[in-house]
Amino acid sequence: MAKPDGHAPAAPRRTRARIVIVGSINMDLVVQVPRLPKPGETLSGSGFQTLPGGKGANQAVAVARLGGRATMIGCVGDDVFGTHLRQGLRGEGVDIRHVAVIPKSSSGVAVIGVEASGQNSIAIASGANERLRPADLRKLESVIASADALLLQLEIPLDTAATALRLARRHGVPTVLDCAPVPPDGLPDTFREVDILSPNQSEATLLTGMPCHTASEAVAVADALIHRYDPGVVVVKMGELGAVAHAGIGEALVTPAYSIEAMDTTAAGDAFTAALTLRLAEGANLGEAMPFACAAGALAATRLGAQNSMPKRTEVNRFLAARKPKSPR
Ligand code: RIB
Repeated sequence: MAKPDGHAPAAPRRTRARIVIVGSINMDLVVQVPRLPKPGETLSGSGFQTLPGGKGANQAVAVARLGGRATMIGCVGDDVFGTHLRQGLRGEGVDIRHVAVIPKSSSGVAVIGVEASGQNSIAIASGANERLRPADLRKLESVIASADALLLQLEIPLDTAATALRLARRHGVPTVLDCAPVPPDGLPDTFREVDILSPNQSEATLLTGMPCHTASEAVAVADALIHRYDPGVVVVKMGELGAVAHAGIGEALVTPAYSIEAMDTTAAGDAFTAALTLRLAEGANLGEAMPFACAAGALAATRLGAQNSMPKRTEVNRFLAARKPKSPR
């Protein structure tokens, strides 16, 4: 991964970048509703679908569809969902040799409501995702060492994610942490010094207690996160406002979003983070990787579902050639 300074020209790669993703694999139970229900309210929805998801698996599929070599490390249960989830990942070209099937365990499940505006709410039962332990990661040290980047989220036990990070660091493998969901007690110090720390707006607020509604608020949040966790760069995903990258010195890089008709924003952030990681691992700088990531996130939001909504490389390139980003606010 090139130092993401936003200026240096990209060095072309001869081989596909290998991204190791350590994270969750869920079956998403998706109900389309006119609006998200209030506490205690029952609402009729218009449709129900069982779709493959999980932040880790979504990011693995995104990497594969965007042209990278994706190696998934995670767990599913020995149930019918686990079988479908593994088959689905394999069908996408993701290396699933390190996706374990846990006996007598259910697979992770996410119950998702998607409202007409595309916004969602998600409740998760972790199931087998909780069974990915630090010792499993230690056995896979050579797999992590061979990566061009390690991509992490936080739907697995924190000590497991922290172990993956430590192993990657030991071998000089660049690390990207999508801090979703934010742990109830905040992000521990074991997650200091990742190369890229990437929250969305609400996660940024949860992590810092600061508002994050505008680009300048995102820069202030990034400064606070740099002070606290010392990452190389903070990249704040701002949804329809685009994304803000800040390294604590010099100007922040504000990348506007693209206008789209959102159908389902589930996993749009996963598409963004995977695309950003892949392009940086390919040698792109931040100035090149951020618009690519915004385009991948925008395309994902135009489709229902998580893994299904991940765009292919050709789609992102076509989208970028055809669209102009919104003017920054
Ligand atoms: O980021 C979206 C994902 O969050 C869904 O696919 C769901 O499984 C939860 O993990």
